[in-house]
Amino acid sequence: MQLADLFTPQAREATPPMYGPPTADQGVPLISLAYGLADPALFPREELVDAAARLLAADANAALNYGPNTPELLTLVAERLRREGVTAHEDQVLLAYGSSQVLGLLPQVLIEPGDTVIIEAPTFLGAVMRFRMAGARLVGVPVDAEGLDVEALEATLRELRRAGVRPKFIYSIPTFQNPTGTTLPLSRRQRLVALAADYGTLLVEDDAYVDLRFRGTALPPMAALDDGNWVLRVGTFSKILAPGLRMGWAHGPKPLIERLQMFKVEGSSGPFLTRLVAAFAEGGRLDAHIAALRTHYAAKCDALAAALRRELPGADFVVPQGGFFIWLRLPEGVRASALAPVALRHGVEFLAGTRCFADGSGDAYIRLAFSEEPVARIEEAARRLGAAVRELQAS
Ligand SMILES: Cc1ncc(COP(=O)(O)O)c(C=O)c1O
Repeated sequence: MQLADLFTPQAREATPPMYGPPTADQGVPLISLAYGLADPALFPREELVDAAARLLAADANAALNYGPNTPELLTLVAERLRREGVTAHEDQVLLAYGSSQVLGLLPQVLIEPGDTVIIEAPTFLGAVMRFRMAGARLVGVPVDAEGLDVEALEATLRELRRAGVRPKFIYSIPTFQNPTGTTLPLSRRQRLVALAADYGTLLVEDDAYVDLRFRGTALPPMAALDDGNWVLRVGTFSKILAPGLRMGWAHGPKPLIERLQMFKVEGSSGPFLTRLVAAFAEGGRLDAHIAALRTHYAAKCDALAAALRRELPGADFVVPQGGFFIWLRLPEGVRASALAPVALRHGVEFLAGTRCFADGSGDAYIRLAFSEEPVARIEEAARRLGAAVRELQAS
């Protein structure tokens, strides 16, 4: 008898999470562009220390005891949503330990084994793994240079309907998508919202990167185009403040928010954390911080794009208008699976495209994050990547 015999089928099939221990150096100290970490140079350390001191001085018991979220953070989220054109209500906001927790609660409310979920191909597998673990049947719809292909989505919905299947939800990352960096134009947003309503399926709008726009003009979120019935908007403070705080939220139809809250059995997302984020944001501080992040990340994105054009002339990519990633189609004949070990020897790491497709395809692609490393190291990483590709092509 073994302990593992006690595991559920889902536990037996589970794979390790995306972020494992750091990859070991293979001789050359590694520069990793594999994960979308924040730039540590940009953490507002002093302001966070000040905010913590203020809230502890004001009411240490409220901050440090078990207790509810501070209503100020619900108001902050609702106000930010209203600025985006969403008809937002504080009592339709759920706060959670990262948007990841929201995406983990969703299948508990919506998925029984065998239920269908529509996802983008490629997408953020960190979320999709949670749907799969709940037993969802995943149906991928392709992403092109303008995000989710809505024609293909409509064809998929039609086919499913013909087969008597009503998908539980569509999971979309409309702005600076992870991993492709693409943004859905307004016409596609409108179409997607209309399709969700026509087919009676929930549209999960995960807009983790929306505030990090470097170029172009902001587009209305799909939650602003919906009549309030079919869109769950999911967001996070991870990308605009600090991932380590792990503060995320969702806003959507009240009955759904109430159910999600019931499954968040531990209750609030922390009196201290919710107060800290709200206190930091006071007086326009969060907006000013986001403005600084945009300028900084734009420069790093441009540096990576320029270095890739120099070092990898055969690669194909679109420079994103915001976010953390450049999605690159490798030169003809180069596969990410073959390139990865060579790149590690050259001291550079990327995320293989296969880590972004639920069906394991995508070996012609890699995702490069420009978010964490400083410009000089980003440029060095591109040089190393170019050398690794040339070595592979010569072999
Ligand atoms: C598209 C997308 N959604 C959600 C998340 C999770 O963010 P959080 O830190 O709020 O859990 C990420 C983080 O990488 C992401 O890329």
